[in-house]
Amino acid sequence: MSRPETNPLRDPRDRRLPRVPDPCALVVFGVTGDLARKKLIPAVYDLGNRGLLPPGFVLLGFARRDWGVGEFESLAREAASQHSRTEFREDVWRRIADSLSFLPGSFDDPEGFDALAAKLVELEETHGIKGNAAFYLSIPPAAFPTVLEQMARTEMSDNSVRGGWRRVVVEKPFGHDQQSARELNELVDRVFTPNDVFRIDHYLGKETVQNLLALRFANTLFEPIWNSHFVDSVQITMAEDVGIDGRAAFYDSAGAARDVLQNHLLQLLALTAMEEPVSFDAEAIRTEKIKVLNAISLPRDLEHDAIRGQYDQGWLAGQRVPAYLDEKDVPKGSTTETYVAVRLGIETRRWAGVPFYLRTGKRLPRRVTEIAVVFKKAPHLPFDATDTVELGQNQLVVRVQPDEGVTLRFGSKVPGSAMEVRDVSMDFLYGASFTESSPEAYERLILDVLLGDQTLFPRNEEVDASWRVIDPLEEFWATHPPEKYRAGEWGPRGADEMLTRDGRVWRRP
Ligand code: BG6
Repeated sequence: MSRPETNPLRDPRDRRLPRVPDPCALVVFGVTGDLARKKLIPAVYDLGNRGLLPPGFVLLGFARRDWGVGEFESLAREAASQHSRTEFREDVWRRIADSLSFLPGSFDDPEGFDALAAKLVELEETHGIKGNAAFYLSIPPAAFPTVLEQMARTEMSDNSVRGGWRRVVVEKPFGHDQQSARELNELVDRVFTPNDVFRIDHYLGKETVQNLLALRFANTLFEPIWNSHFVDSVQITMAEDVGIDGRAAFYDSAGAARDVLQNHLLQLLALTAMEEPVSFDAEAIRTEKIKVLNAISLPRDLEHDAIRGQYDQGWLAGQRVPAYLDEKDVPKGSTTETYVAVRLGIETRRWAGVPFYLRTGKRLPRRVTEIAVVFKKAPHLPFDATDTVELGQNQLVVRVQPDEGVTLRFGSKVPGSAMEVRDVSMDFLYGASFTESSPEAYERLILDVLLGDQTLFPRNEEVDASWRVIDPLEEFWATHPPEKYRAGEWGPRGADEMLTRDGRVWRRP
């Protein structure tokens, strides 16, 4: 009996065993950079270790180095052994090492691209990749146009030339503002067909972020109260204890709003607030997210409800850490923000009047990302006021990282003869409930690129809608220097005052 055909539009994650992609090449531009070493190469190793790379797979590095494949192999080996999620095993590594290839070239050098085009043809013979190739642009955004033009010139981006598929992966930042993002989107969509463009927001590859959809749409419990009748406010926090990690050149021209708010935080907000998609395929989910992003409203009083900060020197984990302005390569007197907190609204029937407080910052006390849905107080409490002083508002907290899981905070009677009610927590911990460990975000996303599954990649309209929110904030901040906060503390005072004025407080995650 033949097995029923699987629907290619169905999300592959809903099957227990992930699919293995077709034979293909993954070409990484900027393969000697930090992202490639810490995330991309280790993710490829992890996929290999899980048996998810096709026979004939090729990892092809392209960078401005006078290297042969030997040097690339030692870089890749070190990257995989230091940063892979799964155990580093010699036999697995041997198989991956055999799939490595390297081409030296600079982005403005036509010869390097001619050699790459020829190499891809050769790989059809030697590895049977049948014209299938994904190009990962792990390069500074300023180099995108040059690289894309070269790919168009050599017809590398055109999947009708050799048959098979050609895909491109674009790392954030997608532009610097709405205008530049439109130009970039226009260029990428001209060189590749829009369905072959994968814009990476690695937060969408995190297990807990996807669990948000399971939590909301696989249960009866939460959805009926997921609206302005029951929800008081939502707090989305992405805190980091690290500083800028030697990335001054990039970070100082971006700042926290462009680096994180425009993408990771707005995506988390969209998933938290969106309506149920008609199905779990890429188009249906993205359609719902776009509606939310288009419905976001900015606060009227930007001075008080859109706060940015910059860290000053301070103490973290017993160590003295320098001020942002004293970090290596940060320009003197820079007014780039390392912290942002903003109060957004969503103008829909479901959410009108519910503030969404978003915050992110570097050099905060600890690394934690969470989404906290804070519910309204019970309309009436039949207890003495003195018995409920330690009763807060119910909260559902999705812990994205670390300690992935979900916490429900609610009131409970304190044991004893008095009727005292106090907040308690009920916890779901991934580590305790499941034996499988979660794939790394990049591992999942690279596999999806090779499989051609767009579900976890923002569409260009989402990028555009996000810049619509960010541009007015940046314009306002251009004339308002950031407030200082001490490294190791929870951000500038203005952010606390913003919530105090609304009669609320930030959660201490
Ligand atoms: C990146 C930002 O997108 O996300 C970095 O550019 C940030 O500034 C990083 O440190 C955080 O990612 P994660 O997965 O460690 O939370």
